[in-house]
Amino acid sequence: MAVEDHALTHPAYCPSTLADMRTIYDLRDRVRSHPCYTHPIFEHWARVQPRPEVVGALFHQIQKFCSSTRPGGAFPDALREMGMDGESHLIAEIVESEEDHGPELATMAGYILNRASGESTCADLTDQAAVEATLKKCSDDLLGTLPGYQHETGLLPQTRNAIAVFERRNDASRQATLRNLGTALGLEIISNRHLIPGEMHCLVESGLYKATLDDDEMHYLLEHFGETGAEHQHEKKATEAVGLMLNEETEPFILAGMDDFLDSINAFWDVLDTALLQSGRPAESPVSVGA
Ligand SMILES: [Fe+2]
Ligand SMILES: [Fe+2]
Repeated sequence: MAVEDHALTHPAYCPSTLADMRTIYDLRDRVRSHPCYTHPIFEHWARVQPRPEVVGALFHQIQKFCSSTRPGGAFPDALREMGMDGESHLIAEIVESEEDHGPELATMAGYILNRASGESTCADLTDQAAVEATLKKCSDDLLGTLPGYQHETGLLPQTRNAIAVFERRNDASRQATLRNLGTALGLEIISNRHLIPGEMHCLVESGLYKATLDDDEMHYLLEHFGETGAEHQHEKKATEAVGLMLNEETEPFILAGMDDFLDSINAFWDVLDTALLQSGRPAESPVSVGA
């Protein structure tokens, strides 16, 4: 049942009968009013025209975060065991559609890095491990002295915190599963309405990299962007799943899971944005980051 249809029959959609109950529309508005929804990092990226090693460092942190959001872990099965077959199916469909997105993100990141450096810094854009190793080296060089930077993984504490929210998908308890629903809703709204449009803005629309959605190497963005993109479908499915589960008992857990995500990704964008803005841009020609 679509959320709009569901609104006709489910008490969660009738604030006049349950005045203090939040509706799915209230939850959506909560995401839209959070600072992360309008975070300026991608506008700054387009304006700063970051040096190649800055581009690589940002992509390292972003790709590590994104890869943590793809596996379903115990989440779909936990929903089914709670008797929530419809919700489980919706979440499983989102997880299935994420297959192969890791290699495609690496290809796009390497392609943009090559365009930024003006040379084949990433010689083989289909070699995910090699591209990701180059991105990590950029991160180590640019961010390695920041407090709490973990050299083994190349992750900032803010990135690890954002990833930790998704590691909760390995916990099949009822409370964790309800929190995971809220996290999924936050993730899919932000992905569809901020992250992917933000990447479109700084990577394509800015003209900085002479990249278009017709480039094979940009297939990741083509696959995710707009009303025909993956994130639009994910947002619809996550909204429907949460709408089906939202009631007086589940609401506090769903809200908590949503806030876990929104607060952690906002801190994540903040630290990357600060590094981006502080990186400036030298007057000389683009700097090679090596392979
Ligand atoms: Fe994806
Ligand atoms: Fe998504």
